Amino acid sequence: MSSQQKIDVEYQRRVDTMPIIGSVALITGAARGLGRSFAQALLARGAKVCVTDINEEQGKVAETELQAEHGANNVMFVKCDVTKDEDFRNAWSKATDTLGTVGLLINNAGIGNEKNWQLTVDVNLGGCMRGTLLALEKMGADKGGAGGTVVNVSSIAGLKVVPFGPTYATTKHAIVGLSRSLGHDFHYAYTKVKVQCLCPSFVQTDLIVDSKKTAFSPQCAAVLEKIGGTLKYMTAETVANGLVQLIEESRNGGCMVVEADKDPYYVDPPVQS
Ligand SMILES: NC(=O)c1ccc[n+]([C@@H]2O[C@H](COP(=O)([O-])OP(=O)(O)OC[C@H]3O[C@@H](n4cnc5c(N)ncnc54)[C@H](O)[C@@H]3O)[C@@H](O)[C@H]2O)c1
Repeated sequence: MSSQQKIDVEYQRRVDTMPIIGSVALITGAARGLGRSFAQALLARGAKVCVTDINEEQGKVAETELQAEHGANNVMFVKCDVTKDEDFRNAWSKATDTLGTVGLLINNAGIGNEKNWQLTVDVNLGGCMRGTLLALEKMGADKGGAGGTVVNVSSIAGLKVVPFGPTYATTKHAIVGLSRSLGHDFHYAYTKVKVQCLCPSFVQTDLIVDSKKTAFSPQCAAVLEKIGGTLKYMTAETVANGLVQLIEESRNGGCMVVEADKDPYYVDPPVQS
């Protein structure tokens, strides 16, 4: 068998489709921004969604609006601070009791606060770690679960050098490493839980606005202010379409980049045995 054929066989082995319709999803940081668009996209494709966020007020607004559009029985809000294990567990159990067995977790909550690197690490990386480990505990076939999918939201900043947001980039690089490592078939063989990673480019959300106020240094703030107007922004809907594609293609360890004016594409790491 040629090396290309080996790659094709390996790829096919890792790919099977994951239907969104009928699934139950839990999304962190989904009261606004990308997370809210992810909720909208999954609901539109027939999933039930537990919207979670640290911001209770905004979360309840999202719940009311999404329920009006998609039905009161299909969406709920639960307050969840992703830096707290007990919040995650509470959200998971409320989602299960109300909507059914959770089969899809989107670890989306994120901040870009360079002034408080501890918090940024705890929300961005800690949130993905806590969520992924809880998902393995609850969905893992080796723990009596039915399997499922975890999508960790990284960023294009997780694949590049980002001098103007070093803490943010560090967390996003780590999220790629977490997703690829636990998304290795070694783990899937016994957990039946796929772990994937989404790496979007820029979308005009509050995170971008807030990041400018908490920049790493005055020099970084000045650069962020200057380049802000020149960036090519996508809509949140474009990123949500990428998320849907990532879930449906269901490639374990898949790390998908979504950029303006390009089709979503996977970034393949070299895997050594
Ligand atoms: N906007 C972009 O250009 C962009 C690009 C690539 C990746 N991302 C990533 O997408 C994700 C969503 O970002 P966004 O742009 O929609 O930002 P956003 O600020 O609009 O939304 C983030 C949400 O996370 C919530 N949140 C903050 N701290 C939390 C905590 N401790 N626990 C639970 N929720 C918390 C906020 O309340 C907010 O609702 C982040 O992980 C971000 O890094 C954003």
